[in-house]
Amino acid sequence: MSDSSVSPDPTTDPDYRDPELYRNEPVSFVRRGNRLQGRRAKAWERNADRYIIEPDRKRADTSVAEDQHLDLYSTFGRQAPLIVEIGTGLGECIANAAKEDPASNYLAVEVYRPGLAQLMLKVESFGLENVRAIQANAPEVLDVMLEEGSADEIWIFFSDPWHKTRHHKRRLIKAGFLDKVARALKPGGTLRLATDWSNYAEQMRELLESHESFENQYPGHLAGEESNLTRVRRGGLENHEKEPDFVDETGGWAPRFDRRILTSFEGKALKAGRLVFDLAYTRIA
Ligand SMILES: C[S@@+](CC[C@H](N)C(=O)[O-])C[C@H]1O[C@@H](n2cnc3c(N)ncnc32)[C@H](O)[C@@H]1O
Repeated sequence: MSDSSVSPDPTTDPDYRDPELYRNEPVSFVRRGNRLQGRRAKAWERNADRYIIEPDRKRADTSVAEDQHLDLYSTFGRQAPLIVEIGTGLGECIANAAKEDPASNYLAVEVYRPGLAQLMLKVESFGLENVRAIQANAPEVLDVMLEEGSADEIWIFFSDPWHKTRHHKRRLIKAGFLDKVARALKPGGTLRLATDWSNYAEQMRELLESHESFENQYPGHLAGEESNLTRVRRGGLENHEKEPDFVDETGGWAPRFDRRILTSFEGKALKAGRLVFDLAYTRIA
């Protein structure tokens, strides 16, 4: 019997980590199938060797072993500004951005293999040379694989909202995660976020405003009557009671970033009457 067929015993194995936990925190995703079919399976076969970075794992198949540092120069075959998108979904945004901006390197971090296979289809149809992808848990990629100060920008668009209060602990954007983002970003680099969930947007803004490594690029912007937060609360747009007197005095929301194209995920949110919140922060020294 090979070692891999023996189930780890959490009570006796000192290296055991629950695959649903990273450093004793719950992960921000649910496990979904890795199975690929049809065009996606073929695109994966044709392109994975070249475009998918396959780190050694710990136990879980989305984990990253401690020594898996990524050499960006050999990975991309050149030195260029690095944009990292976390949670690329079907790869719509990153593929389009990479096409529009061939002078930069683009790294997709996503746990969902069919999404990365869909990105491979776009890589082929757009003829992209400047995209690579890792199927792994983003906090581990930031901690282990990326060198300190290596990213010019980090994008996280529509991070799973985990909207029930008892699930908030599973949200990706939290103080400890922002420490990892700050470490991976160059001083002067940009973190861009977007969400269609007002309560998560407020949480992101609060965490970033109180984090010593980040400075809002749009302080006070889109406040009061201009704020989507004001609109959501007054209109009761998220199945909460209407709050007719609510005013978001703080603002600080960014305008829509022009490379954040409309993805199918955002399209569904807009169709359901949801509003979107953008944030952009500079990593200060
Ligand atoms: C709601 S979708 C949004 C996808 C895409 N950004 C868009 O706008 O269409 C969130 C994505 O983040 C991925 N994700 C969640 N937690 C992650 C993590 N810890 N590491 C990598 N990807 C993650 C999910 O698999 C999912 O594809």
